[in-house]
Amino acid sequence: MYRLVRPLLFRLDAEAAHGWGVRAARLGQRAPGVVRALFPRADGRLAQTAWGLRFASPVGLAAGFDKNAALVGFWAALGLGSAEVGSVSARPSEGNARPRAFRLTADGALVNRMGLNNDGAEAVAARLAATPRPPGFVLGVNVAKTHDPAILGEAGVDDFRRSVRLLAPHADYLALNVSCPNTAEGKTFETPEALDALLGAVRAELGGHGAQGTGHGATNGSPPLASSPLPRPHERREPPPVLVKLSPPAAGGVDVGAVDELVGICLGHGVVGFVASNTASDRDGLRTDAGTLDGIGRGGLSGRPLAARATALTRHLYRTTDGGVPIIGVGGIDSAEAAYARVRAGATLLQVYTGLVYEGPGLIGRIHRGLVRRLDRDGLATLADAVGADA
Ligand code: FNR
Repeated sequence: MYRLVRPLLFRLDAEAAHGWGVRAARLGQRAPGVVRALFPRADGRLAQTAWGLRFASPVGLAAGFDKNAALVGFWAALGLGSAEVGSVSARPSEGNARPRAFRLTADGALVNRMGLNNDGAEAVAARLAATPRPPGFVLGVNVAKTHDPAILGEAGVDDFRRSVRLLAPHADYLALNVSCPNTAEGKTFETPEALDALLGAVRAELGGHGAQGTGHGATNGSPPLASSPLPRPHERREPPPVLVKLSPPAAGGVDVGAVDELVGICLGHGVVGFVASNTASDRDGLRTDAGTLDGIGRGGLSGRPLAARATALTRHLYRTTDGGVPIIGVGGIDSAEAAYARVRAGATLLQVYTGLVYEGPGLIGRIHRGLVRRLDRDGLATLADAVGADA
C-alpha cells in the first residue's frame, strides 16, 4: 500500500509529506480498532522489560515525529511498543524557517533543521493529562532546552528544569535531548561541565531520586529492582526514569574518552538509560552529490548513513556499562536485519523515524516478523537473549 502512496508523497516537500502522514494518522487515531486489525501485534518473544516498564514491542517511535503528543493512540494502534514524544521545550517555539526538512533519497536519509518547533511544555503537559493512555503502551517524553540563543548557562538549566517539572508526571520515562544539532547555540549540554550542571538540576527537580529504578533491563537476566506494580502513568508518584540522548560518533569511530566521561557523569546522577543516537551534523560518506548537499545546507542527518555509527555507539555504551544500562538504539533502522544487528550490538529497545518515511508503517510488522525468524535461526527463546550478543 505504502509503495503506491510513496511516489505521490515524495513529490511533495518533506515537511508537507509529513503533514499528510499526520493527517492520515489523525484519521487512524479515530478508528484505532481498524488500524489494529491492519497492523498485527508483536510476538510475545519480542517483549522487553526495562526500568520496570514492559514494552510489548521493542520497536518505538523516535522523538521528533510527534513533537506535541497528538497521536499517542495511533502509535499504539500501529503495534509499536512505545513512543517518545517531543522534543518539548519550556517555551513554545515555531522552529526554523522553511524549508527545513529534506530527503536524500539515494542515501535513504533525511536532513532536518526543524529547530525544536513545539507547543511548549505547558501545552503538551495539558494534552498528555487529557490523553487516555493506551493499555500496555509506554510513553517517553523527550525534553530539550528552548530554542533561543539568549537562554544559556544557568538560564538554560532552569529552562530544562521547568520542562522536567511540568512533564515528569505524565512520562513513563524522560529522555533529555542534550544533543540536538539544530539550534543556533549548538549542543549546549554535551560538555562535561554543562551536563553535570543539567543533571544535578534535573535530579534536584525530581526530588533527589533522579532516575530511580533499575538500570537493568532484561539484558543481563537481573530482575528489575523496581518490583512494585507500576502506578498508572497519570497517577505516577515516583519520578520517572531519566535517559540521556547522545550525539552519534564521528564516522571515524567512537571517541572513547569523551563518551566515557559523559557516561560517568550520567551514571553519577542516576541516569538509567541512553538513547543512541541523535542526528549527525556532518555529511560523511553520502552518495548524494555535493551540489545537492550544498543546496540543502545545514541540519541533522538521519537514516541509513547513521546506522553504522549509531551501532558503534550502542556497542560501546553496552560494553562500558557491562550491559547493565538499557540502551535505546536509533538511527537508520529500516529493516529487520538492521534492527536485529542493533539488538545484538547491545540495544534493549529500538526506535524508528526515517525508516518509517521510506518504508511506511508496514516496516513495524516486517521488523517484528524478521526478528522472530532470526531468533529461531539462532536458537534463541526471546529477544532479551540476543541483547549484546555481538557487543
Ligand atoms: C528528529 N530527531 C529528533 N530527536 C530529538 O531528540 N528531538 C527532536 O525534536 C527530533 N526531531 C527530529 C525531526 C526530524 C525531521 C528527524 C528526521 C529527526 C532525531 C530522531 O529522533 C532520531 O534520533 C534520528 O532521526 C535517527 O533515527 P532515524 O531517523 O535514522 O530512524
